[in-house]
Amino acid sequence: MQHYLNIKDAGDLETCVSEAIALKQHPVKFKTLGQGKTICLLFFNNSLRTRLSTQKAAINLGMDVIVMNFGSEGWQLEYEDGVVMDQGKSEHIKEAAQVVSQYADIVAIRAFAGLVDKEKDEADMVLNGFKQHAAIPVVNMESSVGHPLQALADAITLAENKTIEKPKVVLSWAPHPKALPHAVANSFVHMMNLQDAEFVITHPKGYELDPKITEGCEIINDQKKALENADFVYVKNWSSYTDYGKVLSQDKNWMMTQGKLGNAKFMHCLPVRRNVVVEDAVLESDQSLVIEQANNRTYSAQIILKKLLETL
Ligand code: CP
Repeated sequence: MQHYLNIKDAGDLETCVSEAIALKQHPVKFKTLGQGKTICLLFFNNSLRTRLSTQKAAINLGMDVIVMNFGSEGWQLEYEDGVVMDQGKSEHIKEAAQVVSQYADIVAIRAFAGLVDKEKDEADMVLNGFKQHAAIPVVNMESSVGHPLQALADAITLAENKTIEKPKVVLSWAPHPKALPHAVANSFVHMMNLQDAEFVITHPKGYELDPKITEGCEIINDQKKALENADFVYVKNWSSYTDYGKVLSQDKNWMMTQGKLGNAKFMHCLPVRRNVVVEDAVLESDQSLVIEQANNRTYSAQIILKKLLETL
């Protein structure tokens, strides 16, 4: 693996999940692998889980960690070629990526979608800028279009909790007061397309995800019908893709409740707004897997960093 930008970069998903579960049993078994190696984590946006779990994963592998809140503390970066940089942006990605490459052996980046310009977001300028100009492996800690470390953690959680070979997994849209990116939902769909499962997506009309990503997926707009006989329900808000970045509806009827969940397990990447996205009773029930999903973020990051370290 040269970079980890998309879940497909991890190779065979089932093997990768098994390796991550084995690491979870013996987290410091490869403590010498990362000795003398440094990972640099660059955050253009806020984080709790990604920041701490990726640091923990690197520490488990014996690496040193440098963290920078680039969004608030770094120079504003220019990404376009040939620009006269006489406005607000002080540094070009070409220099920044090469400079970071001298301080670290792996760079991991979080840079969300702006949700204003679809074309710009889909170009994933920050992540791809580092991929193009850095001399070291790049890890996606959530970009404009994907969150593959989250999707790998979700795959680990599904594998640990499924009781039948081919479970029914439903990805259900939920209301939210703010416009949120599509990255988590996109990567969850990518990951589910690599699983042996009955996979259904449900959302109100107008909340279709990128049709290139959901091609071939079963989509049911009736949430009640979609949830019938579900084994796992993954709840997530995303803003409109067609009417790009807009909040079209905050319909409370789409909030996940104990009644709708039935006997299914509940999943969410966190952070989650209680009693907006999901009611308290669900989060506080034994059916909620959200804390275990967050725990598995360490092992999804650790298996990816291990694979990258093995190539250095
Ligand atoms: N799920 C997730 O990526 O959490 P953070 O935004 O807190 O990192």
